[in-house]
Amino acid sequence: MPVPLLDVNAQNHPLELELTAAFTRVLRTGRFILGEEMEAFEAECAEHIGAAHAVSMSSGTDALLAAFMALGLGPGDEVLCPAFTFFATAGCIARTGATPVFCDVSVVDYNIDIRSAAARLTPRTKAIVPVYLFGQAAEMDAISAFAAENNLQVVEDVAQSIGATYRGRGCGTLGGMGCFSFFPSKNLGGFGDGGLVTTDDADIAETLRRIRNHGMHPRYYHATVGANFRMDALQCALLRVKLRHLSTYTAGRVANANDYLQRLARLPGVMLAGAPEGDSAARLVLPQAGTHMGHVWNQFTLRVVGNGQRDALKNHLTARGIGCEIYYPVALHQQVCFQQLPAHAIQACPVSEALTGEVLSIPVYPELTALQRDEVVAAIAEWLAQR
Ligand SMILES: Cc1ncc(COP(=O)(O)O)c(C=O)c1O
Repeated sequence: MPVPLLDVNAQNHPLELELTAAFTRVLRTGRFILGEEMEAFEAECAEHIGAAHAVSMSSGTDALLAAFMALGLGPGDEVLCPAFTFFATAGCIARTGATPVFCDVSVVDYNIDIRSAAARLTPRTKAIVPVYLFGQAAEMDAISAFAAENNLQVVEDVAQSIGATYRGRGCGTLGGMGCFSFFPSKNLGGFGDGGLVTTDDADIAETLRRIRNHGMHPRYYHATVGANFRMDALQCALLRVKLRHLSTYTAGRVANANDYLQRLARLPGVMLAGAPEGDSAARLVLPQAGTHMGHVWNQFTLRVVGNGQRDALKNHLTARGIGCEIYYPVALHQQVCFQQLPAHAIQACPVSEALTGEVLSIPVYPELTALQRDEVVAAIAEWLAQR
């Protein structure tokens, strides 16, 4: 039985009646831009996340760009961000004219390592962007303290982690702004692109609303330059349907991840990331959910240790019809487009560089069946036994 990395149809098709009703509702209003449907979606997201305000955007990328524009970032400013993340985090910093300064990540959770960030701090540093990679928050106690000490703005990249918590608090409420994505592979996966910025600050929320609509206020008057970052009313209406099911989807991901963790840990040569005894003897390193984290498992990412081993396991799983993917094969400080940045922005990040050669994400989507999980575990066991 093939096991895809993600099966959006398994999640969306059972909702067909609810989705069609939402579509029809918007069709009948004839209001496709801004309006009530968007406002209702934003209010429901704010409540789910635990933020005072939520401002929808055309994508997660545009959410980040709008957040950075709201901070007034520009040439001469520096922003600390992890080297191991999706491109948009840093691409949006660069698009404001500011300099992304790439920091290394932790071997425990693959999120920004505050010691690396501290070593890259300069008088030009204005902000830090912790990314909650694969569904788990970064170590926000340390990051918030560091930001407060150094007068830095905090923008959380929550694209992969809607519904995640840190010490019981919703991700997206731990910094000045939280940026979310509704790309179809995300935990709240849309029907096209969509995004959202959360904040507890009413003034910032208002600035974001203007930025997403050409900086316009009142109509046809522009005191600042914005853009068209609006999310369609139709997309909002459809995502309102899925938001009602998000907690169930998250529970499914958590159950799948726990099942993998239990069963894979029993195989020879398998260890947990950040295990106190170290992982030097490990062949396969499992992701670890911190005890103070509500991990929402957007990805279940293994580390396959040893030269060429990750690609060997990837080929083995692919041959057995099991979907898997490398998130991400190149660390951002090594991307060609950033090679003209000042040397201190693109310093070596040894953990990030090692991860790019070792990571492999396997299927963890909520609708995965027990039989499919059996196949994944059996294929990994078979591969380990052949070594
Ligand atoms: C960490 C991270 N940041 C930002 C984004 C950008 O989101 P989008 O694809 O909705 O533009 C993504 C997702 O693709 C992401 O994974």
